[in-house]
Amino acid sequence: MTDPRERLIVALDVPSAAAAQKMVAAVGDSASIYKVGMQLYTAEGPQVVRDLIASGRKVFLDLKFHDIPNTVGSAIREAAGLGVYMLTVHGSGGGKMLRAAAESAKAALGSAPIVLAVTVLTSMDQNDLNAVGVADEVAHQVVRLARIAIQSGCGGVVASVQEAALLRKEVGGNFAIVTPGIRPAGSAIGDQARVATPAEAIAAGATHIVVGRPITGASDPSNAAREIIAEMSEIAAESRL
Ligand code: C5P
Repeated sequence: MTDPRERLIVALDVPSAAAAQKMVAAVGDSASIYKVGMQLYTAEGPQVVRDLIASGRKVFLDLKFHDIPNTVGSAIREAAGLGVYMLTVHGSGGGKMLRAAAESAKAALGSAPIVLAVTVLTSMDQNDLNAVGVADEVAHQVVRLARIAIQSGCGGVVASVQEAALLRKEVGGNFAIVTPGIRPAGSAIGDQARVATPAEAIAAGATHIVVGRPITGASDPSNAAREIIAEMSEIAAESRL
């Protein structure tokens, strides 16, 4: 059983390295995996990633690569060289791109980063999907892209909690499912439309949860992270009974 602390990813949705450092210090030892996304990476570049890793944290580099296979493969070689733990590519880039991504990650000198495929962005609804030429239902498209990603050697997917159980049923058990849109009971929903609690995410088959504002916006981020981990520990203990 994975240590529940290893299932929590804190989203560093901040504009500067100074703000990121402040947040990491406020969370303290309660979490060890941090998501660096487009905003922080565009503002500060790879040094912010190097600094987090040098301080003993793991980094989920969420840049959602989507380009020709050679270009994505080359970018992933650089990310692997930085020592990131997880990273994202767009599943809709297709099998050749996903295979190039997976192979680049596996060729890393140190431990290979886990390549996660983003399926259908949760901001897209059925109409949006149809408008870009995909006639299928959102759920079918999510499963289709996840299958291609796993068959191409990727280590997992990013999906909503609502999709996690379907993916476990249709695609199998042996890959990572990273779920954002997490809100502990009683916390503010913010701009997320569909949310689930940490326990619901784990029960649905998620391996990791991404949590931003419920931790970064809390008056005591360290305690907020500990409470989320405790909630995941309970569900993990129950599922062993
Ligand atoms: O603050 P909050 O917990 O909503 O942050 C969630 C994080 O997960 C943000 O970094 C957001 O960009 C990311 N994310 C998401 N929904 C997705 C994919 C990523 O909320 N479908």
